[in-house]
Amino acid sequence: MTDAPRPDKRVFIKTWGCQMNVYDSERMADILRPLGYALAETAEEADLLVLNTCHIREKASEKLYSDLGRLRPLKAHKPGVRIAVTGCVAQAEGEEIMRRAPSVDFVIGPQSYHRLPELLARDARSKGERLLADFAPEEKFDRLPAARAASGPSAFLTIQEGCDKFCTFCVVPYTRGAEFSRPTADILAEARNLADGGVREVVLLGQNVNAYNGIGANGTPSCLADLAYALADIPGLDRIRYTTSHPKDMDAALIRAHADLPELMPYLHLPVQSGSDKILKAMNRGHTAQAYLDLVVELRQARPDLALSGDFIVGFPGETETDFECTLALVRTVGYASAFSFKYSKRPGTPATAMAGQVEEGVKEERLARLNALLEEQQTQFNQTMAGKTLPVLFERLGRKPGQVVGRSPYLQPVWVDGPVSLLGTIADVCILGAARGSLTGQLRPTSAAAEAVA
Ligand code: 5AD
Ligand code: SF4
Repeated sequence: MTDAPRPDKRVFIKTWGCQMNVYDSERMADILRPLGYALAETAEEADLLVLNTCHIREKASEKLYSDLGRLRPLKAHKPGVRIAVTGCVAQAEGEEIMRRAPSVDFVIGPQSYHRLPELLARDARSKGERLLADFAPEEKFDRLPAARAASGPSAFLTIQEGCDKFCTFCVVPYTRGAEFSRPTADILAEARNLADGGVREVVLLGQNVNAYNGIGANGTPSCLADLAYALADIPGLDRIRYTTSHPKDMDAALIRAHADLPELMPYLHLPVQSGSDKILKAMNRGHTAQAYLDLVVELRQARPDLALSGDFIVGFPGETETDFECTLALVRTVGYASAFSFKYSKRPGTPATAMAGQVEEGVKEERLARLNALLEEQQTQFNQTMAGKTLPVLFERLGRKPGQVVGRSPYLQPVWVDGPVSLLGTIADVCILGAARGSLTGQLRPTSAAAEAVA
């Protein structure tokens, strides 16, 4: 048996953006560990800096360049330090980054992270070279180590990447490429490993996660519903979540899985973006507002306690006050447990950038404020309906005060209780006593063993 090399180098990874970037950053840390890289807490103590970027909304590249500016003196101080820019800005603006930022050694797109060790080993910089990893979409999952251990009882697991939908505002189809689904067997093996390591909840990730279409057992195609049933059978895995879904891919089998599987958490992120049919069409979303509302009814019939979360864009080109009011009306009809709302921003290379009727910044701001006020009111209201209920909580971390632990309800709300450390990594019933907009407080149910330990 060979020992792993003792960590003698440090890598600092800064992650922007979505959960998939968080997952990718964890995999990059995994692939670097056998090369002797431990995680650094700060950029100053690192030998390798990885800036894992996001391109989804504006200011992404500005943030990157200002970070690179701040890191320049560090590199002058420690000439051996290497800087890698990864993620979607790397993919979209690789050449430009190489041109504008001489301190950057490697630029690596999301499909090529498995090449990081090779790029480091070539140590091109010492020969005066800098490297732009090619962006040919390879099957990175075959080459990257699968997630084995997670830092807590909930772990991300990427099952699908890329998007073929081409919403007219979105860069994802250009930065993450075409849809690719991992084979079911690989996902199940990764999930079993995680469960063996104490993970109780997996969050399945994909840009279009419910378009999942992987190779299942016997080489037959497998959809997200098939995968959910198989994951639910894994001992110890009590909770399954998935994000982000497209309304058009919410098929009957998946809706049925919500009725059948208690492991599928009753909380679904299902972005609609707008409540106006005219805007939905211009966005190329492929469905109407009514089709979305019908889908919500169907989902709630399958799982009556299902809560929804969503994404909204205000000020898309051509959006009038009437269109915006359709969005407010849709929000009122659905009643969201939480949501993310954004001002439309032009993304380079996307069709909406060139559309007529770009909306003034001031109007976007005013609409965003009105939408946010409604969404915040709904979130507070939703949380208040929890008071007096008993919820199963998966405990993940210690609270701020001694004797406090924090977990997540089925609806992803943080729940604070007084309880023993031994609760971490377990699910226990909590009576909800109080609710704020962002979190809940509660008391362990007196009958539970953990509650007796507190008393
Ligand atoms: N402008 C504003 N918001 C955007 N999103 C994606 N592209 C843009 C853009 N150009 C939002 C969408 C998507 C979320 C991840 O980011 O709401 O669902
Ligand atoms: Fe972007 Fe639309 Fe694909 Fe979502 S479905 S990643 S918004 S193109």
